Order: sequence, then structure tokens, then C-alpha cells
Amino acid sequence: MPVTLAFDVYGTLIDTHGVVSSLQVLIGKKATNFSQTWREKQLEYSFRRGLMQNYKTFAVCTSNALDYTCAFYEVDLTKDQKNNLLESYRSLPAFKDVEDGLKKLKANNYRLFAFSNGTADAVDTLLVEAGIREYFDGVISVDDLKSFKPNPAVYSHFLRESGVKGSNAWLISSNPFDVIGAISAGMHAAWVKRSKNALFDPWGIEPTITVENLGELYEKLG
Ligand code: LAC
Repeated sequence: MPVTLAFDVYGTLIDTHGVVSSLQVLIGKKATNFSQTWREKQLEYSFRRGLMQNYKTFAVCTSNALDYTCAFYEVDLTKDQKNNLLESYRSLPAFKDVEDGLKKLKANNYRLFAFSNGTADAVDTLLVEAGIREYFDGVISVDDLKSFKPNPAVYSHFLRESGVKGSNAWLISSNPFDVIGAISAGMHAAWVKRSKNALFDPWGIEPTITVENLGELYEKLG
């Protein structure tokens, strides 16, 4: 049975800070911090909606987080400017190492899935726009369960949908909360640590492996 890899999408395959260039045009120097806060709030809203069992799609979390971030930085954007930013969230670049890494893994018979908080439609569009959809056997979304990572049920859902056991499946993610969630749910997990400054949560639950990019992932998985 080939090994199955579940790739996190936002922040792992796709660079969410790619939106910074659109932001810079609108708000200049504040763009980097703004983008960081926007991303953190987006995730916080998904965690809270998961806990509250008050599901709205990840796109709604992203939109609500944008409104919060505008208020926080006292940035007055029009409805059209916000819509354009949200639109740019639907088409973002892949990180530089991604395509080559996916190509090698695919050529070596790994089964590749995108596994995301985003809806299947949104993720499909992103992967097509980034030119990497062809490497994936499928897209599996938490939207099927109306919950979010790291609810253990969404990792079980991934295993059921892709037809594998946790012992034969890896989550690949740059997000420590996702890595810890997958390991706790019985999967292996690789932490993609692209930045030297990225920190892992000190919970005593370690990634199975840590890699700097998908090329190194390919080498370590063999
Ligand atoms: C995702 C978020 C967690 O793609 O980045 O699932």
C-alpha cells in the first residue's frame, strides 16, 4: 500500500503572505504586520468556531478577521477594497520549493492529497491558480464535517476518505497546531519549518520529522 500524504494548504503549500503585495498598495508599511495579524485572527476564529460548534466556512473566518484587523490597525478600507483583498486570497502563489517537491513525491508513488480548513472548491481553485492541482489525487476538506483543525474528528475524516490507516499516513504542515493535531489523532506528521525563526509549541508532542522544504521532505521520506 503506497504511503499517503495529507498536505496542509494555507501556509504550507500556498504562501498566505502573498497577499502582502496587494496590501502594500493600500496601506504601505503596515502591510507585513497587518498580514500577520489577519492570518492569526483567521486561525483563532476557526478554532473558536470549531469549539463553539458554530461553523461558518474558512472564507467567513478570513473575512471576519479582515474586518477585525482593519479596526485594530485603524485602516479604513472600502467594501470594494476589502472584496479585492478577499479575492486575492483565492489566488495566491505556492512556495518556491513546492512544485519540484510534489513532482518528485508523485513520481515515487506517494498518494498526495490536499487536506485543508478551506472548502473543497476554494482549495481546488487555489491549487489550479498556483499550477499544482495536477499532483494531487484529491482534495479533502473539513467542510464535510462542519468543523476545523485540530478537531481529531477531521483527521479521522481524512483517513476514512482517503482509505488509509494512520500508521500509513502523514500530515505535512508548516502549522505546529496542525502537526500536533495529526499526531494526537494517530498519524505521522512532518513539520515544514521554512523559516529559522519558526517555533514549535512546547507541548511535549514532537513532529515525526522536521524539514526545511518539500525537497528535504522527499529525501527524508525516501
Ligand atoms: C489549512 C490551514 C490550517 O489549510 O492552513 O488547513
